[in-house]
Amino acid sequence: MPKAKISALGCYTPPRLLTNQDLEKLVDTNDQWIMERTGIRERHIAEAGVATSDMAILAARCALLQRGIEASEVNAIIVCTVTPDHMFPSTACLVQHGLGARGAWGFDLIAACSGFVYGLTTGAHLVAAGTHDKVLVIGADTMSRIIDYTDRATCILFGDGAGAMLIEPPADGDSGLGYIDFLGEVDGSGGDYLKMQAGGSRLPASHETVDQRLHYVHQDGGQVFKYAVRKMYEVCRDLLARNGLTGDDVSIMIPHQANKRIITAASDRLGIAPDKVLINIDRYGNTTAGTIPLATRDAIEQGRLKKGDLVLFCAVGAGYTVGASLWRWAF
Ligand code: UT7
Repeated sequence: MPKAKISALGCYTPPRLLTNQDLEKLVDTNDQWIMERTGIRERHIAEAGVATSDMAILAARCALLQRGIEASEVNAIIVCTVTPDHMFPSTACLVQHGLGARGAWGFDLIAACSGFVYGLTTGAHLVAAGTHDKVLVIGADTMSRIIDYTDRATCILFGDGAGAMLIEPPADGDSGLGYIDFLGEVDGSGGDYLKMQAGGSRLPASHETVDQRLHYVHQDGGQVFKYAVRKMYEVCRDLLARNGLTGDDVSIMIPHQANKRIITAASDRLGIAPDKVLINIDRYGNTTAGTIPLATRDAIEQGRLKKGDLVLFCAVGAGYTVGASLWRWAF
């Protein structure tokens, strides 16, 4: 029987849109190329001065409001992000303070695009251990802060956004609803293919690193694409198999949104029908740790995710990081 469930969801995206037509004015690209190669039409971009904790707090407040509880009832806050407000203190500390979650502990979790899947399983295990009864898992990234808007290979891909899920023990009557299983893997041999090179202890910020544009995202898109297609399929296949399930049993697959072609290649191989795969990359682009909660909100709003449904979350990202989890949806 599951020992943890997702009990609420809240999201935030900044109002300002950056469309493909806007990008045509910045770099040598065009709407047709972006749509065909990625599926992205527009992304949300935070106004100057807005940081990751601001979006995370707004998303978390929505989740708490939906559940009808006070922030002071939260025991732990996990913020999944690669764009923290600062190197330290952690974004989780800023979110705790901003929410007024007195007594909660928390930390940031760095797993790039797999961040939210890793955060969910971490939160589920805290609750399943019996030591926590309200864990907030937040995926939030302000990617626009680390994107080079002169590099057409990356600037078309990313957007800003945040989402939060609350994890709690199942209640009476929730029989069979909640967390089922997780499978993850990291492969550091792929680290060079998608990274922000400078700003850490290996290459601290200097005039040279700024001049060389090393504080931006650099990606070998082709390498990451091939890895993502293969691993998104394999991790889902193996997770389903060890639970005695096939793609046919999945009510809805909610994958990380990096590229529409990655998602359809993986879901086709898994035998999951297109109408059971959530794709909303057209409206948000890749918001890194934000994609899965944003996609989950769309699934609920579109009536495609209901209580009792078997949901498959999955992601592949920088690191490389890979992860998938299975849940029986609880609200
Ligand atoms: O979420 C984290 C994980 N990240 C991912 O999963 C991303 C994985 N990678 C991808 O999604 C794709 O590799 C991209 C969308 C980044 C690129 O698509 P691609 O089909 O792999 O294109 P490419 O990089 O092989 O480039 C094909 C051509 C090149 O021109 P030539 O050399 O064939 O003349 C590029 O210079 O397209 C050109 N190109 C562009 N053209 C117009 C690259 N970017 C653009 C652009 N607009 N924005």
